Amino acid sequence: MGIALPLCHLSLLFLLSISFNHVGHRNLVFADEALIELQCHNAEVPSTCIQCVKSDPKGESADKVGIAFIIITCLSNNAGSLKNNMTVLASSARGKVEKIVLQKCAKGFSVSMDDLVKAAITLGAKDYDKTNGLVAAALVQEVYCKQNILGKNVTVPDGMVYAMRVYEELSNAALRIIDRF
Ligand SMILES: *[C@@H]1O[C@H](CO)[C@@H](O)[C@H](O)[C@H]1NC(C)=O
Ligand SMILES: *[C@@H]1O[C@H](CO)[C@@H](O)[C@H](O)[C@H]1NC(C)=O
Repeated sequence: MGIALPLCHLSLLFLLSISFNHVGHRNLVFADEALIELQCHNAEVPSTCIQCVKSDPKGESADKVGIAFIIITCLSNNAGSLKNNMTVLASSARGKVEKIVLQKCAKGFSVSMDDLVKAAITLGAKDYDKTNGLVAAALVQEVYCKQNILGKNVTVPDGMVYAMRVYEELSNAALRIIDRF
């Protein structure tokens, strides 16, 4: 009991420090276009990264952790619309193999969404290795889906092919940005 109380206080302090850090940095650090470009610079495709961060109203005032958080949010939104569209496509698929491939893709992007929710939490807790592990796990689902689509000659609309490429580019950006924290 004598130990339990201080421990409880410690974790409360820890949680408070996380939220203070977030609020504090957002307001205090002069973050702008230059920081966005600096952070996105090492990504394979900086323009995709920059476009995602700027699409968020908080992008211009985010610190580098905030920028990583926004990219994870873009990834999650992207995985969500891919999941929905794969589901719609699967339901209208005529071929049995095609239907199974698309259903697997939808399930995969759903797993990605779960991983990305966890990634946002571990990012907030400053566990950057775990965050990158989760972003990578979320990316594996997309890679698996793409391989399956190509291997089984399944046709998907150009918009979805493009969204999957953006998903890969944003994953790469997040992994490289978080790697340097
Ligand atoms: C996919 O299509 C290509 C050419 O259109 C063909 O060579 C290949 O065998 C097909 N693969 C499958 C798994 O149907
Ligand atoms: C999903 O479908 C909606 C409605 O057709 C479309 O607006 C959107 O661009 C699609 N997104 C992806 C990632 O394919």
